[in-house]
Amino acid sequence: MNLSQPLPPEFGEALARAADRLGAFAREIVWYADVSSTNDEAAALAEGGAAEGTVVAAYAQSAGRGRQGRVWASPAGAGLYVSTVLRPPPDAVSMLTIAAGVAVAEGVQAAAGLRVDLKWPNDVYVGPRKLAGVLAEASAVRDIQYVILGFGINVMPAAYPPEIAARATSLEAELGRPVDRGLLLAECLAALARRYGDLRDGRGDVVCGVWRMRAAASLGRRVRWAAPGAPIDGTADDIDATGALIVRTDAGTIRVTSGEVVWM
Ligand code: BTN
Repeated sequence: MNLSQPLPPEFGEALARAADRLGAFAREIVWYADVSSTNDEAAALAEGGAAEGTVVAAYAQSAGRGRQGRVWASPAGAGLYVSTVLRPPPDAVSMLTIAAGVAVAEGVQAAAGLRVDLKWPNDVYVGPRKLAGVLAEASAVRDIQYVILGFGINVMPAAYPPEIAARATSLEAELGRPVDRGLLLAECLAALARRYGDLRDGRGDVVCGVWRMRAAASLGRRVRWAAPGAPIDGTADDIDATGALIVRTDAGTIRVTSGEVVWM
């Protein structure tokens, strides 16, 4: 059993300062020293009726996971590991993952002053290296009761496995100075409150516009999509209003809504 603990002061103070920008994320923050996965803890809370906006954060994860069944290395204190409980209206669901990527990019930039890029759907990059990622998990395919939106940000260079170390970076490696984690959490949650508010209020077009600016370096590039059956090559043109990636291929244009996209 994981027992939650008091929020460390550096987080409490930064969140209190940002309280008027946190929306629902100001209500309840559950902190763990060590959990398997904050997404699992948040899902358990959501199953028990936790309100929209409940936040779960941890110092370390023993079974952090990423998209496509990958492991998300989560050494103690080396990153920010955070999950939120959302109860979105059905028409906001498809764009959630795009909005979350935008929010993490904006939060990082606001807290650390580092310009970052997005790759579809929501990978956060500094140049060729990945800094942060988002994992959205819905309670069901139909009749979604809740979505757990988790994000992980590499803060410190850490003992990542070699296959990850070559392709990953961290805020402190990029900046060459310590980063205020409390501010980072507060700014990411404030940005998430804003972008989720955009979706709830029917401003998905605004979120798409911000995403396109952040993804400019990857749009127009050749991609390979691991389609069921055989991979499909094409050019990543844009996203549509649902957040799907529009890929131009020799056989016409396709909409990619899930699965692995490799940038070539
Ligand atoms: C990815 O890019 O593959 C997504 C990574 C998401 C990692 C975060 S860390 C907090 C939350 N808990 C998890 O187990 N995963 C997400």
